Amino acid sequence: MLALVALVPLLATTLASPINLVARNNEAYIADVEIHASCNATQRRMLTQALSDTWEVVTVAQDYIKHNGPKDDVFKLYFGDKPEAYPTALGVYEALLHSDKAGVVLRCDNPDGRCATPGYAGHWRGDASPSETVICDLSYEARIYNPGFCMFGFRLDKDKPSKFWSIDLIHRFYHVPQITNSAVNHYAANLAEVVQLSQNNSTFSPFDSDALQFFAAHVYALNIGAGDVCIGDVKNAVAPTTANAPVATPKPDNKPAPPPTPATTADNSCHTHADGAVHCEGHEPAAAHEPAPAHGADPNAGKECHSHADGSLHCV
Ligand SMILES: *[C@@H]1O[C@H](CO)[C@@H](O)[C@H](O)[C@H]1NC(C)=O
Ligand SMILES: *[C@@H]1O[C@H](CO)[C@@H](O)[C@H](O)[C@H]1NC(C)=O
Ligand SMILES: *[C@@H]1O[C@H](CO)[C@@H](O)[C@H](O)[C@H]1NC(C)=O
Repeated sequence: MLALVALVPLLATTLASPINLVARNNEAYIADVEIHASCNATQRRMLTQALSDTWEVVTVAQDYIKHNGPKDDVFKLYFGDKPEAYPTALGVYEALLHSDKAGVVLRCDNPDGRCATPGYAGHWRGDASPSETVICDLSYEARIYNPGFCMFGFRLDKDKPSKFWSIDLIHRFYHVPQITNSAVNHYAANLAEVVQLSQNNSTFSPFDSDALQFFAAHVYALNIGAGDVCIGDVKNAVAPTTANAPVATPKPDNKPAPPPTPATTADNSCHTHADGAVHCEGHEPAAAHEPAPAHGADPNAGKECHSHADGSLHCV
């Protein structure tokens, strides 16, 4: 009997460990995101730190879900209460941490010429090269590392968490198709829409890029502050308003030529999000939606823009 009692904890740990098999059928696998040769020594150091911040925040988010479970109020606030939300959210963060990163690249050489656009801190390269993300110079000036979370008056219920490298890169990597097999998309455009989605239509919540970003930021802020130091009233967040966001602006002269235009463009479904971001589902060339040049009020100034696979521009 004594021997059996002693065996129980041993068994538990043994069973949780991997079985020691040689995995002959696994394909080659790359665990790390590559920092492109176009990044100089300073950029490489900063991006290396940003990547490490990203994995830290995602791990904290995943651990929070593991420990607190699907009935947790913060979990339900972002992901709803459908049974599927729990394994899905765990898996979607797992995919970001541990999917094959072969070809997933951060580059610094502005290959598409978009970094000159005001407000451009970086962009996903879309169809041109779906695994690649360009980080523009503005990012190095504007973004904050994890130790600065909750600094400078940041409040999650009113400020964009993409101010932090870690949250920004979560967003950018969820655009890379191979990270989640394209399962993650944009269903909500801001915190208010994230909360609305989880209350009304939560099937999509664990696949919503913003829900995944805001939950990760919320939980990270909780963990560092041991309470609400910079979260605020997220349940009642109001959608940011930007008056007079244009649906389309003329192509600025200094932009590269737009990609070839498919036959129908005029009636495709562009819509303006509550924060003024223009988001198109159709095949309109990217240039038609690029922000206006530097003069006057640029609706996307200070926003983070990225291109979708269809060439549409999305700024948040
Ligand atoms: C890297 O490039 C940035 C400009 O993009 C520049 O400010 C910085 O000095 C460069 N660093 C090195 C080590 O060359
Ligand atoms: C739920 O969200 C999806 C994705 O945004 C949308 O297509 C669908 O119409 C929504 N359903 C309801 C009932 O709002
Ligand atoms: C949920 O959807 C219903 C019907 O479309 C709508 O009246 C209600 O305001 C929505 N609730 C939230 C929190 O968005």
